[in-house]
Amino acid sequence: MTVAPRTSLGEALGLYLHWPYCSRICPYCDFNVYRARGDDDALLAAILSDMTDWREKSGARSLASLHFGGGTPSLMRPDWIGRVIETADRLWGLAEDAEIGLEANPGDQARFAGIAAAGVQRLSLGVQSFDDAVLATLGRDHDGDQSLAAIDTALAAFPRVSVDMIYAQSGQDVAAWSAELKRALASGAGHVSAYQLTIEPGTAFGKRTERGETLAVDGDSAADLYEATQDLCDAAGFPAYEVSNHARTPADRSVHNRIYWEGGDWIGVGPGAHGRLGRATAGGRVATTACRRPGAYIDAVSATGSGLSAEDTETLSPLDDMIERAFLGLRVIDGLDLRHLESATGLQPDKAAVERMIDDGFLVRAGTRIALTSAGRLLADRVTREILP
Ligand SMILES: C[S@@+](CC[C@H](N)C(=O)[O-])C[C@H]1O[C@@H](n2cnc3c(N)ncnc32)[C@H](O)[C@@H]1O
Ligand code: SF4
Repeated sequence: MTVAPRTSLGEALGLYLHWPYCSRICPYCDFNVYRARGDDDALLAAILSDMTDWREKSGARSLASLHFGGGTPSLMRPDWIGRVIETADRLWGLAEDAEIGLEANPGDQARFAGIAAAGVQRLSLGVQSFDDAVLATLGRDHDGDQSLAAIDTALAAFPRVSVDMIYAQSGQDVAAWSAELKRALASGAGHVSAYQLTIEPGTAFGKRTERGETLAVDGDSAADLYEATQDLCDAAGFPAYEVSNHARTPADRSVHNRIYWEGGDWIGVGPGAHGRLGRATAGGRVATTACRRPGAYIDAVSATGSGLSAEDTETLSPLDDMIERAFLGLRVIDGLDLRHLESATGLQPDKAAVERMIDDGFLVRAGTRIALTSAGRLLADRVTREILP
C-alpha cells in the first residue's frame, strides 16, 4: 500500500449548516429531520444570527469549507443559500479554494441552476438507487429515470458532483448491486459514496426489524457486497479514500468530510448540528451540539444569541479527543498522522500494539502516518481499539 502525499486538513476550519426539513421522511433515516411545511424564514434568521455569535467564539480564521447538509438543503430558497454564503464570507472569509457544497434530493432538480448561481460548487446528490423497486422499498420520492435526469442536470450546473448510493437491502445480490454501482460510476460524477444500509433503532425500518422483518442482508453477504464495491470502484478508476467514499482524483475528494476525518475544526449551525473546536493541548477541544428541534433552536438564538444546547456541549478530555481522532482518522485510506495526533492531544497510540498490528498485517506505516491494510479495514474498529493507550 502507498500513502498518497497531500495537504492535510487537520488545521482547517469548516462551517456545517444543518437544514432539517425534508419533503418526506425516509423509513431508514435517523438524521435530525422534520417534514417541511413551507419556507421557515425564522430558522434562516436564527442561523444567520448564530453564525455571528460563532464568529466571536472562533476568532479570525478563514473557512476551507462551507457545507449545507440535512435533511434536504436543496429545499432552501436559492436566495437564502446565497445569503448564508455571503454572511460566511463576510464573517470569516472563504479561502480562495474553499469548497461550497450542498446535499440535494433528485426531486429538487428544477432548483439546481439557482443553487449553483447562488455560489454552490459541489452538489452531493442522494440518488440511492436507479432501480424503481429498490427506490420504492427505500421509501424514496423519485424513480430511476429521475435519478439519472437529476445527475445530468447537476453535471450541467455544478463543477463537482457526487452521487450517494445505498446497498445491502434485503434480497440484493452482488450482480444486482454491481449493475447499479456501474451506472453511478459511469454517470459522469467524479465522486461516489456507497453506504451500506444501516437499520437504525427508532426509525420505521428499525421498528419493522424489531417486529421480525428482514430489511438488510446478513453480515456475510454485506462483506461480499463491500468487496465487490471496492473491486468495481478500483476498476472504474474510483479508488476509495475512506471506507465508503470513492473519488476519481484527489481533487474530487470532499473537503467537508476530510476536515472531519483528519481532525480539523468545524462549526455546526442549525438544529442539532454538531461541531468541534480547539485542541486538547490548548485547554480542551469543545464538542458542541445545537438544540435539536427547530423551534427550540430559534428560541435559544433569540434568548441567548447562540443555538447551542448547554447540556449537550462539553470539553473533551485529551483521551476522549485522541480516541475520536483515531477512530475517524483510521477510516481514511491515507491513514492517521501520528505527529498531528500528538500535537493536538498530547497522546500517542500504544507503540507496542501498533508494532504488533503492523506485524500481523492489519496496519502499515508510511512516514508519520499509520493506515489500515485491506485486512485491517474489515476489522477497523477492533484494530483501532487495540492501539489505544
Ligand atoms: C443526510 S442524507 C441527506 C441527503 C438527502 N436528503 C437525501 O436523502 O438524498 C445523506 C446520505 O446518508 C445516507 N443514509 C442516510 N441514512 C442511511 C442509512 N440508514 N443507511 C445507509 N445510508 C444512509 C444516504 O445515502 C443519504 O444520501
Ligand atoms: S434520507 Fe434524506 S430525504 Fe430521506 S429523511 Fe433522511 S435526510 Fe430526509
